[in-house]
Amino acid sequence: MSDDARQTHAAPAPSGENGAPGGHGPRGPGWVPTWPATVGLVVTLVASVGFAVSFIRDASTQWLGGFLAAALLGIGLALAYWGRDLAGDEVISGPYPVPHEDAEGRAALGDALDQSVQVITRRHFLTKMLVFAGGVFVLSQVVLLGALGPRPKNSLRTTSWRAGSRLVTFDGVPVTRDTLAAGTFLVAFPEGHLDSADSQITLLRIGADPHFKTLAGRESWSPEGYVAYSRVCTHAGCPVAQYEDQAKVLVCPCHQSTFDLMNGAQPVAGPAGRPLPQLPLAIDAQGNLTAQSDFTVPVGPGFWDEG
Ligand code: FES
Repeated sequence: MSDDARQTHAAPAPSGENGAPGGHGPRGPGWVPTWPATVGLVVTLVASVGFAVSFIRDASTQWLGGFLAAALLGIGLALAYWGRDLAGDEVISGPYPVPHEDAEGRAALGDALDQSVQVITRRHFLTKMLVFAGGVFVLSQVVLLGALGPRPKNSLRTTSWRAGSRLVTFDGVPVTRDTLAAGTFLVAFPEGHLDSADSQITLLRIGADPHFKTLAGRESWSPEGYVAYSRVCTHAGCPVAQYEDQAKVLVCPCHQSTFDLMNGAQPVAGPAGRPLPQLPLAIDAQGNLTAQSDFTVPVGPGFWDEG
């Protein structure tokens, strides 16, 4: 097989502007400028740093979105131009063409080699720029981990109630043994935690109602006829806000789950699948109602208790 036959493409023949060869090469017909790709990568660099700084300084979402869009646009622009640059390549296999004997042919071959070196040098520069800009962009996105917030740890299983926590009303007034008459109720919180939504309770004074069933293990939880249940619905977490005095039930307004206060707040209607957790109560020496401990089971929807 001849040398020519083994070549899939011949080396480019001298042609084009300034004696540059045809096909791909600086200033030749297939020449693609590298400055748009360089500009795109520089834009990506600057925008990535801007994104990270904006996120850390808690800037508006417009700034964050603008920097992110600019960074992605820069990479897209660079890749588009780089792709065009590579697309002009010619694959040559087989022995290199025999050098021309005449001076003009040798000069043309020398030019072709110089241009090839320039192309390789541009690609190295673009590759380094792409890796650097891409790395800075990826690192800039690491700051987003900060948006995940603190880990929940055990917070879904515990509330702000502790042994000795005094019960207080919405406005922080301590609840005493004389606060409620039999058959009435109020909403209470642990003292110092009025904003703790998962700690809110419905406090009722059952009194000496003979229909009230004390569950096993809870004999000391209802001093002087006071009983307290979590106000967070076990279905989907709405406040169980309605009290029906005649039936002695609490009703959740979201999906009408109904809890029997005479029997451990067991659900008797609606979608809730488990009772409202009961808070163990005590009365201290000053007559203030206090908690014996936190709830003994998690409050709220059942899925909080999974995993
Ligand atoms: S959240 Fe209470 S019934 Fe659905």
